[in-house]
Amino acid sequence: MKRTVLITGSTDGIGKQTALRVAQRGNVVILHGRNQKLGNEIKDQLIRQTCNNNIEYINGDFTSFSEIEGMVEVLVLKRLIPHVLINNAGIYQTKYETVTDKNIEKTFMVNHLAHFYLTYLLLPLMEEKTTPNIVNVASMVHARQIDLNDIVNPSDFNGSEAYSNSKLCNILFTKKIVRENPRVISNALHPGVIDTKLLRSGWGGGGSDVNSGADQLLYGAFEIPKETNGKYLEYSNEANPADIANDEKIQDELYTLSMQLIPK
Ligand SMILES: NC(=O)c1ccc[n+]([C@@H]2O[C@H](COP(=O)([O-])OP(=O)(O)OC[C@H]3O[C@@H](n4cnc5c(N)ncnc54)[C@H](OP(=O)(O)O)[C@@H]3O)[C@@H](O)[C@H]2O)c1
Repeated sequence: MKRTVLITGSTDGIGKQTALRVAQRGNVVILHGRNQKLGNEIKDQLIRQTCNNNIEYINGDFTSFSEIEGMVEVLVLKRLIPHVLINNAGIYQTKYETVTDKNIEKTFMVNHLAHFYLTYLLLPLMEEKTTPNIVNVASMVHARQIDLNDIVNPSDFNGSEAYSNSKLCNILFTKKIVRENPRVISNALHPGVIDTKLLRSGWGGGGSDVNSGADQLLYGAFEIPKETNGKYLEYSNEANPADIANDEKIQDELYTLSMQLIPK
């Protein structure tokens, strides 16, 4: 069955390659990015490359709650509620920056809170349609410990720590979604070490071709066995995340904190 698949951060890197592959399979693809002109160009390029006309682009900067709300409004208007949501957009910040009037550190906002909010807004609409599948792109470098009292606006910013914390949040959120919504399928995954601008920002470069990252996202979106739910995957296999990712108290605390930060 053809699926409607929204891939956040699909104007570059792993997300862009995943969008191409999802389109090649004949699915409806919703691209997302923060640059309308670039997004439209990528949409046209993918349509030409795949001869699949069912490709749309929605714009929304993940440093802004109102832009995320705007994205959902467009999806509703265009009757484009996804079956599969791939929460992929991500950044590695080398410098300290805060966003929104709540002074939220940018890595936490883009990598976790924006996806939390988008999922919060979309999930009820997705549930009306089918069993939603939410794929959260985490990382094997997720943190082994976290201080949720010092994450929104950390007292001593460190880019590597902020990134690892945000990737742990992706796994904690995945596990919480599944605990709260028995009808939802959601897994977190590490896409591999992939040659993208994010890898270059944080680690200077290297890594495998974007196609091997896309393989992992496609597995999470289309091939994952039904019984694999609320799991963390590395290279398409269930893996053990840091112990703290399984701590339901921390999952609940992150959920409460995130709910306090998003608009009501
Ligand atoms: N590459 C790796 O080795 C690796 C390893 C583990 C996990 N990951 C995860 O994989 C995911 C994809 O990363 P990637 O390596 O493919 O990185 P990438 O090539 O830098 O792509 C990131 C995507 O996110 C978008 N994005 C960034 N800031 C945004 C914002 N404020 N609002 C909306 N979109 C925004 C980017 O748009 P712009 O082009 O406009 O910036 C781009 O489309 C991330 O979640 C990352 O943490 C990557």
